[in-house]
Amino acid sequence: MRNLASIFRIIALVAIAWGGVELLFETEPGQLAVLAYPKTLIFLGVIALVSIAIEVFVAALRFTLFKSLSEEKQEKFLALENKRVDQLKAKFENLPKLLTRSRPIEEEGEIELDHNYDGIRELDNKLPPWWIYSFYASIVFAAIYLVRFHVFDDYTQIEEYKAELAQAEIDIARYKETAKDLVTLETVTLMADPSDLEAGKQIYTNNCVACHKADAGGGIGPNLTDEHWILGGGIKNVYRTLFEGGRPGKGMVSWKNDFKPSELQQVASYVLSLQGTVPAEPKEPEGEIWVEGVE
Ligand code: HEC
Repeated sequence: MRNLASIFRIIALVAIAWGGVELLFETEPGQLAVLAYPKTLIFLGVIALVSIAIEVFVAALRFTLFKSLSEEKQEKFLALENKRVDQLKAKFENLPKLLTRSRPIEEEGEIELDHNYDGIRELDNKLPPWWIYSFYASIVFAAIYLVRFHVFDDYTQIEEYKAELAQAEIDIARYKETAKDLVTLETVTLMADPSDLEAGKQIYTNNCVACHKADAGGGIGPNLTDEHWILGGGIKNVYRTLFEGGRPGKGMVSWKNDFKPSELQQVASYVLSLQGTVPAEPKEPEGEIWVEGVE
């Protein structure tokens, strides 16, 4: 019985600590903080160890104190202990009665009303306390609600809705700032920001010049500065070429495993910023002239 209580206390303490960790550490929705921040597991482990140590220590202390008592006192102590357990049990067994204040079936005769409708009789039961107090609480709630929203016109549902929408916009903007990788074939756009183009140029210089030349005039791969495209021009097509690769066997592989979508967007934008530049040794045009909007 006492061991069970100890185990229960330890579990409860660790559970509370865990709850605290989940509240304190911000994570992506659906992710557990203990998994996102494994160090918190150490903290929970320490809590568990310390509470186990305390339980063991207290148990040992009790045991030695008990042993130091005279036999007579030991018996007294045990009797007292048993009494306490019995009282606790009695309280627990009384709980349903306390909650409902119902009378046992043997006493129903005392609360029977002398209404008798074709053999259907009525008992004058007390209202269950849980019910009556929730009823009072609802009256208090209604009074506050009435004064707040109908007398002082605090805010309307429309205003509440608009405030939530505004907050959602802020949350989305903040999310997009930290998670730049929402780029997909459907949402990709041409970037014009010099820092993005510079980042794109870096990737191009490190990965693409072997086949396309530094000035993109073309080598193994086609000239990227003219308006002729084998796989289609414009940001969406160029992004797709980088994401999926060229035609099989031609040498242009997919880069989706090497770069994040946002990085592919930067290279694609950089490549398109070279449109109309004049390379030193341009490769002859390949593919069709591509006009935006005409596929
Ligand atoms: C191993 C050589 C090679 C490398 C490296 C390479 N490419 Fe290519 N690239 C090609 C070939 C070959 C094609 C033509 C594919 C086809 O015909 O399907 C091509 C096609 C393209 C096209 C489409 C051109 C068109 O006319 O439609 C783009 C855009 C492109 N590459 C950009 C890049 C970028 C950006 C990089 C660097 C991240 C890169 N390539 C790296 C060989 C390469």
